[in-house]
Amino acid sequence: MRVIHSVRSLHIWRRTQESLDIQVGFVPTMGALHAGHLSLIHRARKQCGIVVVSIFVNPLQFGPAEDLGRYPRSFIADRRLCREAGVDLVFAPRPDEFYPSDFQTTVMVNRLTRRWEGEARPTHFQGVTTVVTKLFTVVRPHVVYFGQKDYQQSLVVNQLIRDFNWDMRMIRCPTIRESDGLAVSSRNRYLPANQRTQAGLLSRALGLGVDAIKNGECRVRTIQSKMQKMLGKASDVHVEYLAVCDANTLEPLTQVQGTVVLLGAIRLGNVRLIDNRLAHCPRKIR
Ligand code: PAF
Repeated sequence: MRVIHSVRSLHIWRRTQESLDIQVGFVPTMGALHAGHLSLIHRARKQCGIVVVSIFVNPLQFGPAEDLGRYPRSFIADRRLCREAGVDLVFAPRPDEFYPSDFQTTVMVNRLTRRWEGEARPTHFQGVTTVVTKLFTVVRPHVVYFGQKDYQQSLVVNQLIRDFNWDMRMIRCPTIRESDGLAVSSRNRYLPANQRTQAGLLSRALGLGVDAIKNGECRVRTIQSKMQKMLGKASDVHVEYLAVCDANTLEPLTQVQGTVVLLGAIRLGNVRLIDNRLAHCPRKIR
């Protein structure tokens, strides 16, 4: 497995791959790799001849009051996990080379970033789409792998790929969960033990919403109040949003129709957790 830190070396490496007619699969990450990332890497390994993983804690996607400084960094362990998972190349750009002092370009997807995470974290998606554009430009992958855990991010990046007519496809892989349903995330390690037990309630609440839809409940208010009631059981949970939206546009609905996504964000002390579930309305609304 090769590890490359400079953009120039990556360009040289990429040119040498060009003549070989091999699919390049790409898993962008911010490191602190966990089972969720590994599931993306394994999927890429199965489907592509070359697997590239990037490890880069992207400062542009953190707001001024967010956790950039304390975001977990574990490059040595990450490199070992990549090697064990059969990754061909780790690209870990140096922050000052990737964003030199005169860096001044940003990339923005508009409508899809207005609500939910975009509202809670106003500069977040612009940071994600800017770094992803840079990473895609240098890695030039054929297939990119994103987790359903960050559902809105996956839609935003898919839109970016379409809007720029990039010749690549995205594969959205299922969320990996702990035994109590908590979606695996790098930020779970911040949860103190007493709050960790309450964290699983978010996925249970979303699961309750999905069950209600499966049982024919189409009124979003009723579904939301069931989910809210479940989260109300936990004294430390502060709900930021619990929404039932169109699965493609992320516009909130009042009646469930077709495929919908249930989105949730909660705060547990200093830790912010997000999760989502897809559901399909079994009956037609007249
Ligand atoms: O999902 C993440 O880890 C990040 O948002 C990404 C896509 C690697 C961009 O920094």
